[in-house]
Amino acid sequence: KNKITIAIDGFSSTGKSTIAKLLAKKYNYVYVDTGAMYRAVTLFAKQNNYVGEGYLKKEELIKELNSISLSFKFNKDLGFAEMLLNGVNVEKEIRTLEVSQLVSKVAAISEVRKKLVAEQQLMGKERGIVMDGRDIGTVVFPDADLKLFMTASADKRATRRYKELIGRGDKVNFDEILFNVQERDRIDSTRKDSPLVKADDAIEFDNSDMGIQEQFERICSLVDRKL
Ligand code: C5P
Repeated sequence: KNKITIAIDGFSSTGKSTIAKLLAKKYNYVYVDTGAMYRAVTLFAKQNNYVGEGYLKKEELIKELNSISLSFKFNKDLGFAEMLLNGVNVEKEIRTLEVSQLVSKVAAISEVRKKLVAEQQLMGKERGIVMDGRDIGTVVFPDADLKLFMTASADKRATRRYKELIGRGDKVNFDEILFNVQERDRIDSTRKDSPLVKADDAIEFDNSDMGIQEQFERICSLVDRKL
């Protein structure tokens, strides 16, 4: 049976990972959350004081990149893989607002991107993969069989992220989340290396007013046509 590569890009909190996880489950594909990798590098940088509120020690972080080992460990109960940073499960730590506020600066560093893109391309060599991020259809897999580009209004996206963090027991306020979502999109879209843009051949989905299930069904019919 023909296995394909599915690339999902888009703005933050547009439901990319929800769709990606559903696709991986239905088609028995490997799901790779590339945002988790950028978040893990950011957590490493934060733990070593290479990044924090108002500063980024870029050269120092670049020198230490070789001592960062990233891997994914599948969690059967959750149904998806969790992020390991140098062998330690950091799934919880990388999802905090603090990391969200620093990650786009770290992700703009070319040396960081080079390392992670190489690892992502290796993971996708076998096909049968669904990967989400910002540059998957443009840089990581420009030849992906199916490219999706997700958008939604900033307000809807912030609401989703807010509920997610509150549900996890974090103390956050809505305006702070809204600001973070917009600020990350601004930095991600305007950086020099691999900015967030829709690939010419990507299919755009605006899910401001569309439920996940409806969207998932539409995407499945796109996938089925490629198989
Ligand atoms: O997908 P998620 O929101 O977890 O991504 C966190 C951040 O990681 C993004 O805002 C972006 O700065 C960076 N990122 C990236 N390229 C990717 C995936 C994520 O630059 N492929």
